[in-house]
Amino acid sequence: MLERIKHLTEEIGNLKADLPEEVEQFRLKYLSKKGLVSVLFEDFRDVPAPQKKETGQLLNQLKAAAQQKIEELKASFEVREEEADPGMDLSRPVTNMVPGTRHPLSIVRNEIIRIFAQIGYTVAEGPEIEDDWHNFSALNFPPEHPARDMQDTFFIAKDPEILLRTHTSSVQIRTMETEKPPIRKIFPGRVFRNEAISARAHCIFHQVEGLYVDKNVSFMDLKQTLLYFAREMFGESTEIRLRPSFFPFTEPSGELDVSCNICGGKGCNICKYTGWVEILGCGMVDPAVLENCGIDSKIYTGFAFGMGIERITLLKYQVKDLRLFFENDLRFLRQFTGTI
Ligand code: DAH
Repeated sequence: MLERIKHLTEEIGNLKADLPEEVEQFRLKYLSKKGLVSVLFEDFRDVPAPQKKETGQLLNQLKAAAQQKIEELKASFEVREEEADPGMDLSRPVTNMVPGTRHPLSIVRNEIIRIFAQIGYTVAEGPEIEDDWHNFSALNFPPEHPARDMQDTFFIAKDPEILLRTHTSSVQIRTMETEKPPIRKIFPGRVFRNEAISARAHCIFHQVEGLYVDKNVSFMDLKQTLLYFAREMFGESTEIRLRPSFFPFTEPSGELDVSCNICGGKGCNICKYTGWVEILGCGMVDPAVLENCGIDSKIYTGFAFGMGIERITLLKYQVKDLRLFFENDLRFLRQFTGTI
């Protein structure tokens, strides 16, 4: 009897189950009415009295151990079922992740930064929410000047001094207020105007401003810098022309045209059959603007320019409608795959 108890105790201790059904089979085999453990209890009656105490204890221990083992095996399957998601198919191949592409405006902004970095320009940024001083007054736009109308913008309702900047020229002021010449920087950023949205205009767009202030900076330096930029951006054979213009903060002021890179200057609907397309405004920084920022205009001169990134991108990639830049239609954006 003792031998059988010992043998069964070992056997039950070593039980392992791969399937929940096996646990039920174990229960039947050992603990059901006709099970091996139960049968031992029947045979217990025949155990001689002196051994009854010891055998009884071992028998009870065996039964308890068997019940515990069965419970443990059952529980192990319950946990596994909770962990496994029945809908999960581990053999299914993963979906391929297609890497995104840079937005065309970012591509062109980075290209502009690269071109100017090569001739020593560094990059700075300013706030999109500006005050009247940095966006207008310091740039020589007097309060009632009609030049303000061309840059109608969004004012913060509670404070007419605070507005969304209309151009990145505001960053010229912030830079000259805090830095001493020589200054050679470009300022990329987002700007805002109260414009009706169309194929050629948007109320949000992007500019890159340039500023060079030092001793003896001349209009010749400006022209040569712009020629270099135009040829890097649109190709070696690009020609430029400067037309006189007006901006309150530059004197003299000009607008830069580049020979149309689409028809090569012969005339097409992009250049409206003139052979030229305008890409930026520029000029020599007005001495009054230098003085507004605490820079001595008798010692220093400078030039500045400002271009719209959308405009350059439209030309470079021959995009017909500026609204495409803001719609995030993947059929449009994916065409720029592979560009950096
Ligand atoms: N801020 C002007 C605009 O948004 C562009 C501009 C013109 C910038 C002449 C300049 C400049 O720095 O010298 O229309």
